[in-house]
This record gives sequence, C-alpha cells and structure tokens, in this order.
Amino acid sequence: MAFEVRPEQPVDRDDVLRVIAAAFGDGGREEHGLQVADIWASLGRHRRAGLVVEQGGHVLGHVGLSSAWVDARRLLVEVWVLSPLSVLPERQGQGIGTALVEAAVGTARRSGVPALFLEGSPDYYGTRGFERADRHGFLPAALERTPRPAFQCVLFEGHEEWMAGQLIYPAVWWEHDAAGLRDPRLAEVEERLRSASAESIES
Ligand SMILES: CC(C)(COP(=O)(O)OP(=O)(O)OC[C@H]1O[C@@H](n2cnc3c(N)ncnc32)[C@H](O)[C@@H]1OP(=O)(O)O)[C@@H](O)C(=O)NCCC(=O)NCCS
Repeated sequence: MAFEVRPEQPVDRDDVLRVIAAAFGDGGREEHGLQVADIWASLGRHRRAGLVVEQGGHVLGHVGLSSAWVDARRLLVEVWVLSPLSVLPERQGQGIGTALVEAAVGTARRSGVPALFLEGSPDYYGTRGFERADRHGFLPAALERTPRPAFQCVLFEGHEEWMAGQLIYPAVWWEHDAAGLRDPRLAEVEERLRSASAESIES
C-alpha cells in the first residue's frame, strides 16, 4: 500500500510524539527518544511546520521544521532547521525518511527562508540534497561539539553571500542540551567520519 506525506495537524500530536520517541528510543535508548519528542513538543513559537507519513490511518514517520537564526554581520537572519526526522523502527528502510526529507526541503523552500540547516549523517543527507554548511561560511551553534561534515544545509533562492555566520538556536535546544554532540558519542562520530574520509581517499 502506498504511503502519503501530508502536513501535521494538531490531532496528530500524540501519534507524532509516539513516532519520534520510538525512532530515537530504539535499541534501549528510551530516555533519549522521550527527550527528542519533548523538544518537538516544546518548540512553541519557533515551530514552523511538521509533516507526517501516513498509511491506512497510521502515522509511520514525521519530520519537524523550526526556526533559528544566522548571526550575520549585517543582520540576524531567520533560517529553518530540519529536526527531528523519525521513522518507526519497523518501517525503516522503505523510503519513508527520504520522502519526508524531500517534502521538508520543498516546504522550507516555499516558505521563503534563505536556508535550511541540520545536524546529521552526511551519508544520509548528503545524498538527499544537503551539503556541508561550513563551505558557505556558516558555523554550527555548538562550535566545538559539531563535527563539520555533520553540519549541513540547503540554500534557497533568497540566500545572499553576506548571510554567513554562526547558527543560533532558540533556548529550547540548549535547555535540552541538544546542540551538537557530547563525548563519548562525539568522539565516536568523529572517528567514524575520519575512517570514512580515509577510505574515500584510499579508493
Ligand atoms: C534516519 C531515518 C529517519 C531514515 O529513515 P528511513 O525511512 O529508514 O530511510 P530511507 O528508507 O528513506 O533510506 C534508507 C537508507 O538510509 C540509511 N540510513 C538509515 N539510517 C541512517 C543513519 N543514521 N545514518 C546514515 N544512513 C542511514 C540506510 O542504510 C538506507 O541506505 P540505503 O538506501 O543505501 O540502503 C530512520 O532510520 C530513523 O528514524 N532513525 C532513527 C532516528 C534518527 O536517527 N533520525 C535522524 C537523525 S539526524
């Protein structure tokens, strides 16, 4: 049966929080799943849009879009952040995440913001339209704790050269300590990225 991507409605709230908690809490990380769901529930006026994948009346996946800023020399520029991206563990690997990313990029583009940012796997997002944000003069919110290849963006029509600078998250990200990574996970991800780039140089 085909699945449908549609905008999240207020009535989806509980289903969406359940999907986020399940996706991020998989593999014995229940607490982490609940924390990510709580961030989405707490974004308030910074929340811009949510999209869900539904099939037969069941929500299988979700992506959230919220606002942040780039602290450029000339102005504080509103941009959007893609997070969280969640697919029910038993439905992963079926193209649902890819469909959500594509729809989220389209929604952000139509909103008129100059750029969409995220922190995530360059393997996953790099093949879905994202590129390294530091190549365009952007710095991550957690300067010392965000591996640069993981800090990614898509630029839209409204982007101009001067819109460079550090990404600033609303307070909710810091209240949940959700900007960048911390050790030991930070060290693990850095090591994985180092080996991946060594492999690509060797091959
Ligand atoms: C990441 C996630 C959203 C992908 O959704 P999905 O519906 O399984 O993705 P798709 O079916 O569209 O794509 C599957 C591909 O993504 C890859 N993939 C899945 N998770 C990945 C990850 N964490 N890092 C890199 N690649 C990943 C799979 O290996 C697969 O690759 P292939 O197409 O070469 O076989 C889903 O696995 C998920 O909810 N994970 C838990 C939450 C999470 O980590 N979210 C992203 C945070 S940045």
